[in-house]
Amino acid sequence: MIERLRIARMGHRGDGVADGAEGPLYVPYALPGELVEAEPVQGHPDRRHLLRVEEPSAERVAPICPHFGVCGGCAVQHWIEPRYREWKRGLVIRALASERIEAPVDGLVDAHGEGRRRAVFHARRGAHDVIEVGFAALRAHRIVDIDRCPVLAPSLRDAIRVAWAVAETLKLEQKPLDIQVTATEGGLDVDVRGSGPLSPERMRALAQVAERGGLARLTRHGELVAQHASPSLRMGSAAVVLPPAGFLQATALGEETLARLVIEHAGQAKRAADLFAGVGPFALRLAERMRVMAADSDAKAVAALNAAAKTPGLKPVETQVRDLFRRPFVPAELKAFDLALFDPPRQGAQAQARELAGSSLPLVMAVSCNPATFARDARLLIDGGYRLERVTPVDQFRYSAHVEVVGKFVR
Ligand SMILES: C[S@@+](CC[C@H](N)C(=O)[O-])C[C@H]1O[C@@H](n2cnc3c(N)ncnc32)[C@H](O)[C@@H]1O
Repeated sequence: MIERLRIARMGHRGDGVADGAEGPLYVPYALPGELVEAEPVQGHPDRRHLLRVEEPSAERVAPICPHFGVCGGCAVQHWIEPRYREWKRGLVIRALASERIEAPVDGLVDAHGEGRRRAVFHARRGAHDVIEVGFAALRAHRIVDIDRCPVLAPSLRDAIRVAWAVAETLKLEQKPLDIQVTATEGGLDVDVRGSGPLSPERMRALAQVAERGGLARLTRHGELVAQHASPSLRMGSAAVVLPPAGFLQATALGEETLARLVIEHAGQAKRAADLFAGVGPFALRLAERMRVMAADSDAKAVAALNAAAKTPGLKPVETQVRDLFRRPFVPAELKAFDLALFDPPRQGAQAQARELAGSSLPLVMAVSCNPATFARDARLLIDGGYRLERVTPVDQFRYSAHVEVVGKFVR
């Protein structure tokens, strides 16, 4: 059944939202003000598939990618930039409002830079035995074959070709394989997941892909298959050898922007606690000015940070492998510092925020990739007596519905 819908606003996932008789209807790739023809999506009563834009918005622009609308990687390439920026900043403002938080929110800081430095391709054997390599379709298990992705950094220009070479080497099944490719200073770093056990012959064939493709490193589920150069990245004055498939900020400029804000907010502090520190993009830069204690539950990330922290000229960096959900730093431990910074995964840092709220630290910074959990944790800090002095939304996932946030809390 085809419906005609008037799009009322942009939703938080980048879908056009129409007000249906029974609640909101989500229409990906439609814009506010547009009149569209759409059809139901099986199994999702509140979702619609866009068929035709009958009355296009004056704010509609041509997408930069020929795969936009089919590939699920990007949600919003079709909206004029000022409106896109306003919407993204609005995601942060709305999340704060839902926790009744009033705070100054800066304009959106663009941090796309040269583009994404990491991509995860999916590969599988599709119908008629045809190999498919590409990104996942929007909210579906289908793979969209792609030959280019303008959102990726130039340093990933060979990534699709490498993903194809890996896919053609492995015995693909219906279940998709994940091929994560990261651009490092030593070349491409590739981790393959989901292949199941491999025969020695296939392992050798994979190693040849690494050699022929000039890869820095090829791993399978994090285990080394071949290495030809150090898969490292510079973070401040230190070089970090990345653990396979560990967390990495999506763009180089994103990492630099978040770190710049952290350093600016840190002011003259002398001793920092970096919680959820990962491989240390903040800890290593803070250590150019102050002593740092960095904690994260990922032992490989902490080992990489430890090694990089030996760079001459850095102040001492102490590290801990610690589960901060189960064993957050408590106020008595936090007394040793004059600032704490936390940058948790999407689910936020409820337990740690609760302890920080009970601390006497004069300065706390939150870096987050999820405005909703940022706001929830901010509410805990505010209830503990902190004031949210400044919030900066950072856009390193351009064209997606993701936005990063940096918040500065003082008491
Ligand atoms: C968003 S990343 C940030 C890492 C780092 N700050 C960066 O910018 O690269 C979140 C980090 O939280 C860590 N993490 C996830 N769950 C954790 C837990 N329960 N306790 C401690 N660290 C955790 C992950 O290993 C990851 O390094």
